[in-house]
Amino acid sequence: MASDRTIRIHAPAKVNLVLRVLDRRPDGYHNLWSLMQTVDVTDTLDVRAMPGRPGIHLTCDDASLPTDRRNLIYRAAEAVLKRAGSAIGRDAGLAITIAKRIPVSAGLGGGSSNAAATIVALNELLALRWSPTDMMKVGAPLGSDVPFFFCAPSAVVTGRGEAVEAVTLTGCRWIVLVNPGFPIETKWAYEQLSSRRASVAPLADSLRRIVGGATASWDQIVPLMENDFEAAVGPAHPELAKVAQALREAGAEAAMLSGSGATVFGVFRDEAAALRAQRMLSGTQGWRVLAGAAGTGPLACISKA
Ligand code: C5P
Repeated sequence: MASDRTIRIHAPAKVNLVLRVLDRRPDGYHNLWSLMQTVDVTDTLDVRAMPGRPGIHLTCDDASLPTDRRNLIYRAAEAVLKRAGSAIGRDAGLAITIAKRIPVSAGLGGGSSNAAATIVALNELLALRWSPTDMMKVGAPLGSDVPFFFCAPSAVVTGRGEAVEAVTLTGCRWIVLVNPGFPIETKWAYEQLSSRRASVAPLADSLRRIVGGATASWDQIVPLMENDFEAAVGPAHPELAKVAQALREAGAEAAMLSGSGATVFGVFRDEAAALRAQRMLSGTQGWRVLAGAAGTGPLACISKA
């Protein structure tokens, strides 16, 4: 039976420090090799049981987002309730509110992070006692980036995104996210990539060595940053290269597209450098600029009265 608490959970953004898109698989998806990293720029979810009101009642402070089955939060809650059977009680429903801060359709995994956070919150609210592996299994069918968020803050992701192994990055960095204000659809980005390249470059040995359980320093990783989508979506969106250049001029050690875009992120040595860059770039019309430390703890519930 559900408790009457409200569970609050912060769902972080992610960036891909490395994103190699490898061969196309028989199921139409591509095999990936990615080094993913959470960023402390978060959405906030509040989840509570509603006695006497069956169903999933989702509200969002961003009116442009759907609150029905098209929203991954809704689908994640539905998947949990299906698997958990009568855990919530026959006549009860769920109220979920989401305060959005992560740009949408932006390469930052916001929808996937929200889905993973929903599963963690319901695991707590409904006292399901699912392990991270159980939760990952429920989340994986919802989207390719969902499993990663159960392995935060840093992980190597392979397969179509479902094979996730945590790694340790030593040292600290801050990330500045610049969203240029237009969405890029992931499916379109993959199509661009497939149609533009004749062959797939093999995975570099330096990346092959980074496996689950490995430890690497930020100093080692920054020179290895690359994203196959840059060459694929760059020609259609010349503004992306301008954003990366602006980040470098504002002091970023490296700047690159995240996921299939359109957010470009810069890596900074410390908070002061990141906040300075955020101030410099915030004035550009149409750009949304957010800053946060690289890395967050694992998805964790905060109980509200
Ligand atoms: O799983 P997700 O909804 O993020 O994927 C969106 C689309 O991106 C898929 O329909 C597929 O065309 C493409 N994709 C892919 N290989 C992956 C992940 C996504 O081709 N590993």
